[in-house]
Amino acid sequence: MNQIEVMDLVKIYPARRRLFECWKQDLEPSAATHAVDGLNFSISAGERVGFLGPNGAGKSTTIKMMAGILQPTSGRVAILGQSPHQQRIEVCKKLGVVFGQRSQLYWDLKLEESFELLRRMYGIHPADSQRRLNRLDAVLDFSSFLKNPVRNLSLGQRIRADLAAAMLHNPPILLLDEPTIGLDLDSKKKIRNYIKEINLQEGTTVLLTTHDLDDVEWLCDRLIIVNHGKMVADDSIDVLTEQIAPEKYLVVDFDAAYELPPELKGKVHKQEGLTCWFKIKHHDSSVPALIADLSAHCVICDLSIKEPDIEDVVLALYQRKA
Ligand SMILES: Nc1ncnc2c1ncn2[C@@H]1O[C@H](COP(=O)(O)OP(=O)(O)O)[C@@H](O)[C@H]1O
Ligand SMILES: [Mg+2]
Repeated sequence: MNQIEVMDLVKIYPARRRLFECWKQDLEPSAATHAVDGLNFSISAGERVGFLGPNGAGKSTTIKMMAGILQPTSGRVAILGQSPHQQRIEVCKKLGVVFGQRSQLYWDLKLEESFELLRRMYGIHPADSQRRLNRLDAVLDFSSFLKNPVRNLSLGQRIRADLAAAMLHNPPILLLDEPTIGLDLDSKKKIRNYIKEINLQEGTTVLLTTHDLDDVEWLCDRLIIVNHGKMVADDSIDVLTEQIAPEKYLVVDFDAAYELPPELKGKVHKQEGLTCWFKIKHHDSSVPALIADLSAHCVICDLSIKEPDIEDVVLALYQRKA
């Protein structure tokens, strides 16, 4: 069953709210923004989906409609069959939402007081909450700053705290809007590991927006790419990579100056000194034969396979017409 369904979703921001934007972008003040322009997709339980697109593509607006924070102009979102806008309290219990750019925690409260407030709001038994916080702390490591007011936390601490707060009620679905933005590598890794772990262990569904393609490589199996509020691509990373970059490379370092036989010359992509790049297809069964051929003619020092850069793939997808 689909846990998340987005049907013909549209969000138009009226012009009057965008005077500053209009001034900045030199637009007519009458222009309304079609932030989300007819999106359709569905996500089933346990998927890890990267929701990607350039700045202003409509990702955050979509997530806000999924979380019931914004009402769609038209179309529908269903979270486990319910409307986030109309059945907000019910849907909130199913969702954990993190906006990396903006904390959901109470700025002036100590972190532990924020957790206590959330525990009461969700009606979680104190013993269950404590057990859950202990488990969350083992990965997110927040016990050392529980007594600090949220406003005094560093960015990495704050996002770890936000993630813990979003997970306190054990939701089956996580919506993460740029959860690793501005973090140092160590905090990023902690958060990536945590998201993957919670997905693998508890089957939590994850929808993630990020500009960090390492996050995508580490976390996502499927990409939904939007631009100008419209769908550009929706498929597994493997399929999209094969479509955009059908070739990868066998990179061979030779021991000394080499002369390739004519039948192998046709497969060469480029040569740099003693290193030679051969084009190969994904799932190419002729690679062992190619290596055998090469070693029959030349002395090989080292071999590696160079996958296409996910950066190139994503960039090409961004440029696709919606
Ligand atoms: N509250 C708002 N009022 C008016 N326009 C908005 C508002 N929020 C976002 N927008 C505009 O809607 C478009 C999509 O924004 P957003 O959903 O934040 O994109 P993304 O998260 O992909 O960067 C942008 O053109 C943005 O300027
Ligand atoms: Mg955004």
